[in-house]
Amino acid sequence: MPKAIGILTSGGDTPGLNAAIRGLGKAALYEYDMEVIGFRDGFRGLMENRIMRLDNRTLSGILSLGGTILGTSRDKPHRMPIGDKVQDMTDMIYHNYQKHHLDALVCIGGGGTQKNALKLAEKGMNVITLPKTIDNDVVKTDVTFGFDTALGIATNAIDRLHTTAHSHHRIIVVEIMGHKVGWLALGAGLAGGADVILVPEIPYDVETIAEAIMQRSRSGKSFSIVAVAEGAINKKDLESAEKKEGRKKQSEACLESGTLKLAQELEKLTRLESRVTILGHLQRGGTPSARDRVLASHLGTACARYIKEKNFGKMVAIRGESTEVVALEEVAGQRKYIPLDHPWLDAARKVGTCLGDNG
Ligand code: F6P
Repeated sequence: MPKAIGILTSGGDTPGLNAAIRGLGKAALYEYDMEVIGFRDGFRGLMENRIMRLDNRTLSGILSLGGTILGTSRDKPHRMPIGDKVQDMTDMIYHNYQKHHLDALVCIGGGGTQKNALKLAEKGMNVITLPKTIDNDVVKTDVTFGFDTALGIATNAIDRLHTTAHSHHRIIVVEIMGHKVGWLALGAGLAGGADVILVPEIPYDVETIAEAIMQRSRSGKSFSIVAVAEGAINKKDLESAEKKEGRKKQSEACLESGTLKLAQELEKLTRLESRVTILGHLQRGGTPSARDRVLASHLGTACARYIKEKNFGKMVAIRGESTEVVALEEVAGQRKYIPLDHPWLDAARKVGTCLGDNG
């Protein structure tokens, strides 16, 4: 029976992380009589052996708190900057894992963390992970925690932008996070009634968007809200990147924010004044939604049970109302894009939203 577990949070912080730490920690302590320690600042703290004891005191009063009490970082075990070099620190990490006589290590993170956790599992550690990210891009789970909170924040922002766009007869282009996928922009755009929604999965054509906005203008609606995912890409830019630079540069082009340029081009083509709002890290900050607290508590407590059952090398996923475990090999290095036949895309088109293409 596993007796001692370590927990770390890695990657961008996400609302619900503390709810997951609390759920896992309390279940491990009280249900399964384990000892629990936390490592600070992700894999960096595990490598540097910086710990925090997780007990009744430290696990109390954190359920509704945003961020992570453990701190986080984007450090990778096998490629960690040390001074001016980048080094493989997995041996040191394994040493610290053994030093604390850990029976399991729980890594809570997004896509990158699943990959890093697999590296540690391959090294011989008993690793289990939980999926979190506001981007909702982890495969083999219905949803990740953090997504619902960010969705609420971005939707609320679109609601607020409507009244000012309407008053000034402007186009407001609102940039929404999501890295290389469009779940957040699509969800918030649909919930907030954006007139245009642009996601990385559907490269956009500026003329098509301008025409949709002018069509609204002609029908008496002299303002428009454009919800653009940070990873959305202009079809023309994508084509020229493909021609000039090949596939590698193409993925880099997807990361360059084209939001300011898009707003300028729309202003020129429609002759409507345009403004840009970049929601940025506001979408990750503050109190988790009730749904994220429930999801994180569910996944966290289930994780303690899977540890008791020695179900290692796995990610705990949510499927409907239940949890299940998925092999890390099936998750690592994968990204969940919006399928082009997804019902949210269909719903957006059916309510007359322009998705930047001719679909
Ligand atoms: O993965 C979460 C996320 O917020 C993405 O949506 C965004 O692209 C990225 O993190 C920003 O990362 P950082 O906080 O390191 O700038």
